[in-house]
Amino acid sequence: MRIAPSILSADFANLEAELRTISGSDLIHVDVMDGHFVPNLTIGVPVVARLQEITTVPLDVHLMIENPENWAGKYAETGASSVTFHLEAATNPKEAISQIRSSGSKVGIAIKPGTAFEDVSGLVELSDMLLIMTVEPGFGGQGLIASVIPKITQARDFIDAHSLEVSVQIDGGVGLANIADLARAGADTFVAGSAVFSELERNDRIGALRLLAESI
Ligand code: DX5
Ligand code: ZN
Repeated sequence: MRIAPSILSADFANLEAELRTISGSDLIHVDVMDGHFVPNLTIGVPVVARLQEITTVPLDVHLMIENPENWAGKYAETGASSVTFHLEAATNPKEAISQIRSSGSKVGIAIKPGTAFEDVSGLVELSDMLLIMTVEPGFGGQGLIASVIPKITQARDFIDAHSLEVSVQIDGGVGLANIADLARAGADTFVAGSAVFSELERNDRIGALRLLAESI
């Protein structure tokens, strides 16, 4: 069970200090938004590259950008542990996958709440991680859309039935109240933005979330 705090909820004027407060995380989730695929705008390659230089925790880059095949390789070249792109944004998902892999990062494919698992199932075996969004991408602090939970189980069953080594990551509205249910449904990697950064002792919160996920 891996906890990946999302720095979308961090103080963007103090990212180095903020990263120190989440030293106990398994991954650091970096939300890249382009103002087109999602209405919000965050950071790009130069900032991700600098974050990579100031932390030893692996970076998990979540691209919410149009035409990820044009950019995914550049994020992977920063040394990110994983780069995830949205199926809905890609015109050539296999090209995005090969760019990420050839630059040495793990490949994640994300689907929005309204996208069926069947739309991505043919690509799952080419990936290392399937990101199932439990909010509409774009903003932190939203409530989890519970109707997505059966899709988590559907994905886990598919992965197990095909003996694939693919992680199931959940992003959006994850917190103390629901993480055990999400783990039970089949998730193993949990993004948490507001649930971690709203707490003063962030590493304690990360530990509490991990304990709950492992309690199933
Ligand atoms: C939303 C982002 C999430 C977000 C999660 O588009 O992809 O990573 O930061 O924030 P919380 O955990 O607050 O829902
Ligand atoms: Zn995210």
